[in-house]
Amino acid sequence: QELQMNLEQIEKGGYEHFMLKEIYEQPSVIKDTYRGRLLANKGIIQMAGVEDNLERFLNAKRILIVACGTSWHAGLVAEYIIEEFARIPVEVEYASEFRYRNPIIYKDDIVIAISQSGETADTLAAIKLAKENGAFVFGVCNVVGSSISRETHAGAYTHAGPEIGVASTKAFTTQITVLTMIALRLAKAKGTMSNSDYQRHLLELELIPEKVQEALNSNEVAKQVASVYQNATNCLYLGRGYNFPVALEGALKLKEISYIHAEGYPAAEMKHGPIALIDEQMPVIVIAPNKGHYDKVVSNIQEIKSRSGKIIAVVTKGDTQVKELADHVIEIPETNEAFTPLLTTIPLQLLSYHIAVMRGCNVDQPRNLAKSVTVE
Ligand code: G6P
Repeated sequence: QELQMNLEQIEKGGYEHFMLKEIYEQPSVIKDTYRGRLLANKGIIQMAGVEDNLERFLNAKRILIVACGTSWHAGLVAEYIIEEFARIPVEVEYASEFRYRNPIIYKDDIVIAISQSGETADTLAAIKLAKENGAFVFGVCNVVGSSISRETHAGAYTHAGPEIGVASTKAFTTQITVLTMIALRLAKAKGTMSNSDYQRHLLELELIPEKVQEALNSNEVAKQVASVYQNATNCLYLGRGYNFPVALEGALKLKEISYIHAEGYPAAEMKHGPIALIDEQMPVIVIAPNKGHYDKVVSNIQEIKSRSGKIIAVVTKGDTQVKELADHVIEIPETNEAFTPLLTTIPLQLLSYHIAVMRGCNVDQPRNLAKSVTVE
């Protein structure tokens, strides 16, 4: 017993929980994900699974992404990035819906299955269905040699290392990293992005690990904000564009480990429902980086404020406009619009973590949840 406890302490590498350790590993695992694949100075992105099947990717009229849980959120971020960079239509589906709804699958479709464990039953079943219908299936998995990695025609591993905490953290950011590299590779091959934009994005992607490191400096602020809202019963997460899926993921993280009811919403959609819930008891986490639809997000924040909602905003360092309106701000470094999810995610992970710890929840093994759902 004692030996086992000690082993676990060692595995946690000095952190109180696996989740916190995995959150802090993100700068280094994102680097592991692009190591040998991203040669920014040379303007090269090379991933064997993509290079070997480049023609298929270039001829695909659309990409279908299937996944569950946090991996599905990574798929949504990828939808925005692939469509913007490579101009290929992308649809993202819950694997559990896809497999049972007699979906339309064309032979020249590319199906990308995203899965940390590579063992999720619904995702595996969706892959089998896609294969039966003649589609080419590409896996984005973390666990090497997992069922999904074996069932797919080709793939790219995330190389995030073992993820022990049930709530997925580093798997999410490394999935986005892999999918971003795919989008950039296809953009280059298709000529859908100017050379200078392409080069700029490669150089910026290379800087993401150090910017994630900087985003981790928000830990103290996140902890302080957590102490204020630890007893909340509901929470709303809002984001637009690339950060709409991050809002979903932020809400999922809070639900999973702190058992606080939380909803993620596209910020503009708030007025079609969730706005009715806003009062002085309601913390609203707004993702408001200075790129993209910043002004629109600012007006959403004003709408929340005029209904006395409590505003916790994730902003770019140096922001002044949102700072004046929000009750709390958490800063992240500046980056390209499409890469903001890799940074905005970080404080949301930390916020959920601290709230769960303060509520005395079992952070690494939340009730009723499993790390991988291998049965229906
Ligand atoms: C479970 C886990 C989640 C994960 C989801 C999909 O619900 O608790 O963290 O996102 O399964 O798992 P996968 O291994 O396919 O990414």
